[in-house]
Amino acid sequence: MLTKLNEIKVRAEELLQEAVSIEKLNDLRVKTLGRKGEITLLLRSLKDLSPEEKAEMGMAANHFKMQLEEMINKKTEELKQQEMEKRLIAEKIDVSLPGLPFMRGSKHPLTRVYEEIRDIFVGMGFNVAEGPEIELDYYNFEALNVPKDHPARDMQDTFYINEDIVLRTHTSPVQVRTMEKMAPQLPVRIIVPGKVYRKDDDATHSPMFQQVEGLVLDSRITLADLKGTLMHFAREIFDADLKVRFRPSYFPFTEPSAEMDISCVICKGAGCRVCSHTGWLEILGAGMVNPRVLEYGGYDPEQVTGFAFGMGIERIAMLKYGINDLRLFFDNDRRFLKQF
Ligand code: DAH
Repeated sequence: MLTKLNEIKVRAEELLQEAVSIEKLNDLRVKTLGRKGEITLLLRSLKDLSPEEKAEMGMAANHFKMQLEEMINKKTEELKQQEMEKRLIAEKIDVSLPGLPFMRGSKHPLTRVYEEIRDIFVGMGFNVAEGPEIELDYYNFEALNVPKDHPARDMQDTFYINEDIVLRTHTSPVQVRTMEKMAPQLPVRIIVPGKVYRKDDDATHSPMFQQVEGLVLDSRITLADLKGTLMHFAREIFDADLKVRFRPSYFPFTEPSAEMDISCVICKGAGCRVCSHTGWLEILGAGMVNPRVLEYGGYDPEQVTGFAFGMGIERIAMLKYGINDLRLFFDNDRRFLKQF
């Protein structure tokens, strides 16, 4: 019986040595100390021995049982401790490490330029109005006094959705839409920002671009108001000391019509490549609202006069920042965009 106990001891100690996990230790506990464990069974079989042997073996077996229990407990604790340390190392965070680089967005240059344009006109008492990009032929052309056979309606320029619906080719249709809502209230002072669409695509034309329209109506608006307003605008957005000039032009929705030039922002009028050596840059179209258009909008042309204007935001931005290719605005190259 003593030999048996010794065998159990030797194997148990071996297993204890080898045990590298808490599960292995539990297995050992069950195998030796459990209800059907080797030592338990051994103790149970003592009943067949003589009283002296029983006492001697009982003591030896119980002693070992306690020893083993203690050793298993101790090793379990050690393993738990080791696991905890491993976890602490694995989960260690160095709070002093630099953060991940974060790409910061910024306003698109066209948004910036629009906001500048808007702020100048809002400063002069204008409100902001908007209209749909998918527009009725009626508002895009008809109500702006563009007759059915006018070249501006050419399939070359206009994206037709069907006979009556187009992608607006300019922001001017919002003039009449606004008049319809406002009439007969005065004054009307609006700017209209928005995307417009034309079948055009090269370094200076894009099938989608943005305009800002303007409309002022009141009982005694004259060409002098148009000139003063637009000159103030040009000097605010470009140079306080630039010169402006108005050239006669033609738009079906204004009469008389004009185009406004500013002295070249690059060469100050001396002549350079940007202004084609003329010293002047065209920046917008304008005119006194055609009486026909006032009628379409619901105003009495005998009582009301006004002026209107329209400009391309991309063009203003190109001149302001010296950008020579329109497509840069739409490529979304961060190296370009982050310069603004
Ligand atoms: N709608 C014109 C265009 O797209 C620009 C324009 C010219 C607008 C004269 C106006 C204006 O309001 O009076 O080219």
